[in-house]
Amino acid sequence: MIQRQRIVAGNWKMNKSYVEGRELVKEISDRLQPTDTMVILAPPFIHLNNVGNNIRGVANMFLAAQNCHWAESGAYTGEISARMLESIEVQYVIIGHSERREYFLETDEILAKKIDAVLAHNMRPIFCCGEKLEVREAGTQEQLVEEQLRKALFHLSPEAFQKVVIAYEPVWAIGTGKTASPQQAQDMHAFIRSVIAGQYGDEAAQATSILYGGSCNPSNARELFGQADVDGGLIGGASLKADDFLAIVNSFS
Ligand code: 13P
Repeated sequence: MIQRQRIVAGNWKMNKSYVEGRELVKEISDRLQPTDTMVILAPPFIHLNNVGNNIRGVANMFLAAQNCHWAESGAYTGEISARMLESIEVQYVIIGHSERREYFLETDEILAKKIDAVLAHNMRPIFCCGEKLEVREAGTQEQLVEEQLRKALFHLSPEAFQKVVIAYEPVWAIGTGKTASPQQAQDMHAFIRSVIAGQYGDEAAQATSILYGGSCNPSNARELFGQADVDGGLIGGASLKADDFLAIVNSFS
């Protein structure tokens, strides 16, 4: 049986001044206990270099960006390319976060191009999927998530797909304090794994890390991470405090 990686990733979103970010990463990296769990920090772009310098050499800590552009370079004012991220040793890039889909109108077609850019520059995408409340209420969340996976990821070769981490983030649970129940998370994660198995085979599906995101905190992480198909979490608000984030990292039974 393939051991998939346990991952806890902190998505700082648009938070922390440079000085605050410097303090946060120092506290996290100083206090992190030896762990088998991969700990990924995804700060805003201005922090990447400093966070990278802080965690380089700390076992099991990795650096992620929250977004990148799909083009190699060019006239895209305000954007950051995958090539630039690779050049400062970024290892992961979050692609398709619901906030990018919602506020920056990123479509599945755009996300597919971003996935390709990340992989072409030797980084691993953390691909976010998940439904809005109205979809959950209509009971069509599985169809929607399957479509998100198909359109953004399933053009990849089996070799390329091995690099992808999936994060299931139900939009109704993000920043709302309303967490998916462990059973709701497990059901969707098992479904996602079955869709991957249909496309890439059982072995690939078993090897894919699928993270849960949405109001995950120190009180609910253990039960969520205890589900058979939940391999960790993508943490927003609770990743901004070292105590909370480290407690979540230590939430695997
Ligand atoms: P919260 O943990 O703040 O709900 O955010 C989750 C998320 O969007 C992580 O990417």
